[in-house]
Amino acid sequence: MAYELDLGGRRALITGAGQGVGRGIAEAFATAGADVVVNDLRPERAEQVAHEIGATPSAFDVTEYADVTAAITKLDGVDILVNNAGNAGSEGFGGLGRFVDTSPADWEPFLRVNLYGVLHCAHAVLPGMIDRGWGRIVTISSDSARTGEANMAAYAASKAGAAGLTRALAAEGGRYGVTVNTIALGTMRTEATEALWSDPDNAHAKSLMKRYTIRRPGLPSDAAALSVFLASEQASWITGQTYPVNGGISFAQ
Ligand SMILES: NC(=O)c1ccc[n+]([C@@H]2O[C@H](COP(=O)([O-])OP(=O)(O)OC[C@H]3O[C@@H](n4cnc5c(N)ncnc54)[C@H](O)[C@@H]3O)[C@@H](O)[C@H]2O)c1
Repeated sequence: MAYELDLGGRRALITGAGQGVGRGIAEAFATAGADVVVNDLRPERAEQVAHEIGATPSAFDVTEYADVTAAITKLDGVDILVNNAGNAGSEGFGGLGRFVDTSPADWEPFLRVNLYGVLHCAHAVLPGMIDRGWGRIVTISSDSARTGEANMAAYAASKAGAAGLTRALAAEGGRYGVTVNTIALGTMRTEATEALWSDPDNAHAKSLMKRYTIRRPGLPSDAAALSVFLASEQASWITGQTYPVNGGISFAQ
């Protein structure tokens, strides 16, 4: 008999699923039988992906609390939330620059999407999950939240904040059957980083890959596999954790 992770009968909202990692997660959730809602800031992206995988599009900006609550109220019950929408800075990983050379205006876009976006979405879905006695929240973070990364201070702070929120919500949600976990990704091959990988001679990509035990960037499917598991019934005794999915660039302690 095949071993199955079945998300049938569960409504799953994936934020920032119009491309990249979020899209991969949405595809995997649809394959696992979930009733998927594809969110993105860009309506055309949400509609395109939703059309391709047989899901429902829901375009809103996770940084706008009123828009988040209005959209989630319309969905009438979200069993699984995947906080994937994120801001990692300029395309191609240019970085933010030295912390001392940056200002609050530079930090804000990271905190707004990567931390406030997660607070907003979690706040909107949790009351329903608690009422129904079942829920799953999975937040996509970054390995740089734990290891630190020069020139990415606000990004690391925002992602570490989301991991702290995971632990706090796990502590509150467990008694109601709600689990909350974080996945900390290494460097992925997505639209956001394509400039690195499309040029085989890119020196930065080459030196980066030497640091990965498994010498390739992550793929959306790598993040999707663990997301499906953490959202499943089988993961009902796993909560408050941060799981590295990073090709072995670092090892958790
Ligand atoms: N790409 C990497 O190497 C990498 C590494 C570690 C962690 N991550 C994390 O993985 C997640 C996905 O990364 P990706 O590479 O697929 O990103 P991406 O930029 O390719 O896709 C992100 C999607 O989110 C949407 N989005 C952005 N802001 C939004 C908002 N305010 N509200 C709703 N949607 C919004 C974008 O329109 C886009 O479609 C992010 O949280 C990112 O920080 C990525």
